[in-house]
Amino acid sequence: MTRTPFVPDRFWFGGDYNPEQWPREVWAQDIELMQRAGVNTATIGVFSWALLEPEEGRYDLGWLDDVIELLHAGRIGVVLATPTASPPPWFTTAHPDALPVLDDGTRLWHGSRDTYCVCAPAYREASRSIARVLAARYGDHPALRAWHVHNEYGTYCWCDHVAAAFRVWLEGRYGTLDALNRAWWTTFWSQHYESWEQIVPPRATQYLHNPTQAVDFRRFFSDEMLDAYREQSTEIRAAGSSVPITTNFMLPSWNHLEQWSWSAELDVPSVDHYLDTTGPDGEAHVAYGSDLTRSWADGGPWLLMEQSMSSISTDGRIAFKDPARAVRNSLGYVARGAQSSLFFQWRASAAGSEAWHGAMVPHAGADSATFRAVCELGSVLDSIAEVVRPPADGRLTNSAIAVWWHAEGWWALENRSLPSDHLSYSDAVRSVHRAAWHAGLEVDFTRPGGDLSGYRVLLVPSMFALDDAAVRSLEEFVAAGGHLVVWPFTGIADEHLHVVTGGYPGRLRDLVGLRVEHLAPLAPDESVTLDDGSTGTVWSELVQPDTATVLRRYRGGDLDGCPAVTRVTRGAGTVTYVSTHLDLAATQTLLEEVAAGAGIEPVVADRPEHVEVIRRRGAEHDYLFVLNHGDRPAHVAGPGVDLVAGARTDDGVPVAAGGYLVVREDEGATWDVTAAG
Ligand code: GLA
Repeated sequence: MTRTPFVPDRFWFGGDYNPEQWPREVWAQDIELMQRAGVNTATIGVFSWALLEPEEGRYDLGWLDDVIELLHAGRIGVVLATPTASPPPWFTTAHPDALPVLDDGTRLWHGSRDTYCVCAPAYREASRSIARVLAARYGDHPALRAWHVHNEYGTYCWCDHVAAAFRVWLEGRYGTLDALNRAWWTTFWSQHYESWEQIVPPRATQYLHNPTQAVDFRRFFSDEMLDAYREQSTEIRAAGSSVPITTNFMLPSWNHLEQWSWSAELDVPSVDHYLDTTGPDGEAHVAYGSDLTRSWADGGPWLLMEQSMSSISTDGRIAFKDPARAVRNSLGYVARGAQSSLFFQWRASAAGSEAWHGAMVPHAGADSATFRAVCELGSVLDSIAEVVRPPADGRLTNSAIAVWWHAEGWWALENRSLPSDHLSYSDAVRSVHRAAWHAGLEVDFTRPGGDLSGYRVLLVPSMFALDDAAVRSLEEFVAAGGHLVVWPFTGIADEHLHVVTGGYPGRLRDLVGLRVEHLAPLAPDESVTLDDGSTGTVWSELVQPDTATVLRRYRGGDLDGCPAVTRVTRGAGTVTYVSTHLDLAATQTLLEEVAAGAGIEPVVADRPEHVEVIRRRGAEHDYLFVLNHGDRPAHVAGPGVDLVAGARTDDGVPVAAGGYLVVREDEGATWDVTAAG
């Protein structure tokens, strides 16, 4: 743990509050309902720029003063946003060069949100100004709990301002044009650059982009947006405000930030997390988003800045989220380190682009199952308030398993010039995490080349490009007795995306003890069968073991009899290589076997499949969260106290279908979790 853990006095409960959409009589009702529900935090001002600064340099903060005083009088804390995600029409009218330009040269208009170019000097100046004004006015207000800079950084632009900034960044990275030309392999297709001015962002072009240029553009943009964040946080600190500053990352569908470097600069990492399925896999998705964000927080507490209380956007529709699920999922985030349960948004808008998005107060009003669940959640978070305090070392889990995560892995596989368009980094990582989740194993994420002490198993899904430090850390991990599992298309290239020749995976050939002569990616509807009956999709390849022994072979098809899964033992360490995307059951079995070999047990052995059990470490105790995602009750017995009922659990307590239990564990407690009756 390298950061000071973020420890509020209780779980933050509430969400985005946009009172400017409503007449003042509704504000009074809002406060009354917030109090009824136990809401203690409101995020305000996220999209308020046009009302706060109706014309350049003229501020109208009176209404915001009133909102903050109302909240404060209602004992509701404020997370104050800087509104820079949505510049007002006067701004973009005055500064059309600050509107974003698509890669094909189309300049966008205002009329939505996020219509800005982060590299435009006028935008940067205006952002600093509004941050300065807000910080001066509210920076030491007693209701203020945190700053929420901007909203979901991630708007790309390909304009000339961007081109100029990209060149400066490239000069910083490469120093000389020669080095850039080498890194970008510009000998191909006559792309050699003779001057920095000839370099442009990867704008729409005739055919495929230069892949290294494309990934550099993503690296650059993440850095540039971080600079913009830094400028605002500098203004806030300069005004003397001392509360934590953060910005909200977005998961999972797009990924425009390199979260490790960003997180190092946030007082507390925070994330917006929306389920992408109405099905049971949503539960695994909650765990995935939480484990990632906790890991960006160095294994410690983090903030869930937004989720949806009552809707799931999926398949082109907005599906109703079961209120019991909303409560259970909220506890799922908390169990994995969230210090908050905050939602978008408090009251459903009556109109506007997101009128149909879920809310804590739906269109139906407070007389609704959704609002009753909001009240239940407020009361549960109150009952479990002691859980908010982390242990002295700041680490909230005992995980000995790490998964490598890096945005560059994602970006590298987004290039459309690879052997397959169907190999998705996000799918590869999620399928590994999902299998660990089904196995009930605790998992952290860690960055390539990062500190692996404390981990006994390391899982590396499809990390195409590795630099020297990353390769070295894998070698050292295995030499020290670690158990490494590598999925295909890992370690193929160096950090410039240059393939290391001589057989794949060139960066790791010795470590994995094999050589892949050719790749055989699969069509979307194609699968391969292995000799244990399991199946693989997306990928296959011709593996030729060297020091590795074969665990599984392909059966049938072009690769009939060829190795599919191999392992090499190095001292006390092992390296397992998986050459296809194994199905969920096979991946789960593999992870269970590797974990057992490393002496790692699930949080609770032999629990029913539909019951999730999570342990969150606390200041004086550990806490067991039991989430029953099924339609049958479960039964939990062990030494501890049910924090909601206030009763001991030694003789066993039921957990209703769709229900939950949060237990303060006695020291060294072990648990029986069974399907009831
Ligand atoms: C994001 C934004 C919110 C809102 C929600 C809707 O997370 O931050 O303003 O648009 O999505 O899901």
